[in-house]
Amino acid sequence: MNTFDVEEFRSETPGCESGVHFNHSGASLPSRSTLETIWDYLRREAADGPMEAANGASMLLEDVRAGAASLIGAAPDEIAFMGSGSAAWGAAFAALPPLAAGDRILVGRQEWGDNLATMQAAAARAGARIETIPVSEDGSVDTSALASMIDDRVRLVSLTWLPANGGLINDAAAVGRVTKAAGIPYFIDAAQALGHIPIDVAALGCDVLKAAGRKFLRGPRGTAILYVRREFQQQLVPPYMDVVSGPIVDGVVTIRNDARRFEASENSPALLLGLGTAIRQARVLGIDVVHERITALSRTLRDNLRGIAKVTVRDLGTDLSGIVSFTIDGMPSSEVRAALAERQIAIGANGVPYTPLDMTARRLDQIARASVSYLNTSSEVALLSEAVAEIAARA
Ligand SMILES: Cc1ncc(COP(=O)(O)O)c(C=O)c1O
Repeated sequence: MNTFDVEEFRSETPGCESGVHFNHSGASLPSRSTLETIWDYLRREAADGPMEAANGASMLLEDVRAGAASLIGAAPDEIAFMGSGSAAWGAAFAALPPLAAGDRILVGRQEWGDNLATMQAAAARAGARIETIPVSEDGSVDTSALASMIDDRVRLVSLTWLPANGGLINDAAAVGRVTKAAGIPYFIDAAQALGHIPIDVAALGCDVLKAAGRKFLRGPRGTAILYVRREFQQQLVPPYMDVVSGPIVDGVVTIRNDARRFEASENSPALLLGLGTAIRQARVLGIDVVHERITALSRTLRDNLRGIAKVTVRDLGTDLSGIVSFTIDGMPSSEVRAALAERQIAIGANGVPYTPLDMTARRLDQIARASVSYLNTSSEVALLSEAVAEIAARA
């Protein structure tokens, strides 16, 4: 399974020294180089002054943009840097033409709760409707059902590609074929895909895609990338402007001609440069290699968990990601997470608000979520499996 020396990556990751991390879909562990990039830049800000240091960083930041673009098959002018995935999604959504009464928005059942909340508030204001695309037998988005739902009132299709609450990988490209044929804007939430599985925006056929830097990519918290297809950008009026995104020139608001129309001019170069280091490392390593290793480790973890009494693996889908969701009979998932934390093993626990439609449809109120990175090892998978078995035996 090892096509590279995992110990080398682990020794370059301070977080691997203290405990076992299976919360890469919450936030992963940054490498020492990423951290040093951030610290070096903060030192420069302290010495030269923050504005003065930024003058010397602009070319470096354009390299980060080019790296982010290459990672997802986009062009640099299609990338904006944002502070969070949900802020990125919200900015693109708010830039769409206003909704009217009777308009429809179609969403996947695993839609990320923050996106859904943003859509629901806007739909309620306008008298528009949000409708859930049915799922196929394996729980993934049913693209034939989607095709049959399309009419001239549909304003947007939004899909969370890899949901927050389990190992499903939706067929995002198949959805893209339907939206493209119908000429309907298509947004993808790729929060759990970036740095985890290969991404090619052209193959996906999306107009907008966003993801935070802190998850499988191992970038810093407080960073996210927003892709907006070049031709689509002109249809969007950002919800706010500043002197870079939309300055007033001769009395007229002049919106930038690239995705930076969504970007705030005030941001953290230190974090963005740290993101750049994480992107560079991911590209050198190769997302195919990362994906292959994650798939193998998470398959073993699922097999182990399936063999434990009182444990139910909750992942939907046929093609599975590195997010392994499970429950233990008679024990809330927040307690499972706490019991593992006592053993220095970090996992996540998700409630209904993260994926309201899916959790409600499946009558789940919580799931425990162990998310696997290429940084994890087979012995960590064994350790986690044994710990879950002990906890389940006492539940
Ligand atoms: C599908 C999905 N979208 C978005 C997010 C997070 O977005 P944000 O960067 O706003 O926290 C998560 C996880 O935290 C997620 O699983």
